[in-house]
Amino acid sequence: MPRVGLPVDISRILPHGSIVGADGETGRENEDSQGTGAMSPVSHEPPQTPGEAELPAGTVTFLFTDIVGSTRLWENEPGAMARSLVLHDETLHAAFGHHGGVVFSAMGDGMAVAFCSAAGAARAALQAQRALMAAPWPTQTGALKVRMGLHTDEAVPRDGQYAGQPLNRCARLMAAAHGGQIVMSDATQALMRSQLPDGATLLDLGGHRLRDVAERMRVFQIVHPDLLCAFPALVSLDAIPNNLPIQLTELVGRQAELAEAEQLLTRTRLLTILAPGGAGKTRLAIQAAADIAAGFSDGVFFISLADIRSNLDIIQVIGESLGLALSSDEDVKAQLLTYLAGKCQLLVFDNFEHLLAGAPLVTGILQAARRSGWW
Ligand SMILES: Nc1ncnc2c1ncn2[C@@H]1O[C@H](COP(=O)(O)OP(=O)(O)OP(=O)(O)O)[C@@H](O)[C@H]1O
Ligand SMILES: [Mg+2]
Repeated sequence: MPRVGLPVDISRILPHGSIVGADGETGRENEDSQGTGAMSPVSHEPPQTPGEAELPAGTVTFLFTDIVGSTRLWENEPGAMARSLVLHDETLHAAFGHHGGVVFSAMGDGMAVAFCSAAGAARAALQAQRALMAAPWPTQTGALKVRMGLHTDEAVPRDGQYAGQPLNRCARLMAAAHGGQIVMSDATQALMRSQLPDGATLLDLGGHRLRDVAERMRVFQIVHPDLLCAFPALVSLDAIPNNLPIQLTELVGRQAELAEAEQLLTRTRLLTILAPGGAGKTRLAIQAAADIAAGFSDGVFFISLADIRSNLDIIQVIGESLGLALSSDEDVKAQLLTYLAGKCQLLVFDNFEHLLAGAPLVTGILQAARRSGWW
């Protein structure tokens, strides 16, 4: 994984039940920055650290993998999952190694692998999926379902790692796939199309907006008689109602902060990101929202309050951002809260700091949207 940092760090990410107050808590004078800006992937075993000589350079095809639903399996069946993970690792290492792949990082329950040949990477992915289907899984976990994404780009390893855009693209591509599915970028399919493995074809899944990737990426799926072939639509931003602003550049670093924010959002309904001006708060919030968008069936909405001067306008701006027509003849706050009551949505408020007197509205939203099972 890349270890690229920004010169300034996001200072604090706060989960809480009510919005924090002014000045000191805006983080503008915060001197206790804790983040390093570096990526810190969670590994289930120490990542291999291949020497630079082993890692391909130039045109490199990356293959990223991820086990679907592993968190739930770890919680429900920790013993069996530990055995399944060993089997998973052995199976993937054997398939990837057979086709010249070098595993350069382990992320969570997944792997990042580099190949000097796009066709080799595709064969390795196909072999790995076949082997996973045939493996003797413990009955408690059943067969682990692994999503795989391939992307080819120019890349040069440094210190046993690659960095930057190609990795982000491959990670986003892989994250859009379903368990058992192998997807690839246009760049990869162009290189391997003439060398398709026996019996394999490519299915054009069309253009997709993949989280932070600015332009749409055309995505292809490997189809083979030995693989599952019918999958739901890719989990791209196109599949989820949203108005997240398109980013014109790739996200750099911030993986540790992203992981922290996304993890905190699994157990808190209100999260505040604090940092000095220009540190990247908005960017981090947009990326975190995009990453977890699939968990919000009614969508993810970005609400910019930067240009608002009066608390009275907040509801209007929320309504506009949600595409909601609020009638001025009735209590607009009541209309908004009634609308949100039945919704599973993530709202990203940007630049709330100058409207703190309007913060009780957020409490009102949290109360109105409270559902059984929530705290
Ligand atoms: N991790 C990142 N990768 C790439 N670009 C970034 C990253 N973080 C911030 N930027 C870019 O830097 C600029 C400033 O970031 P951003 O607007 O998110 O900062 P901010 O903390 O929200 O600023 P402000 O305090 O003014 O609201 C933006 O152009 C943003 O796209
Ligand atoms: Mg901002």
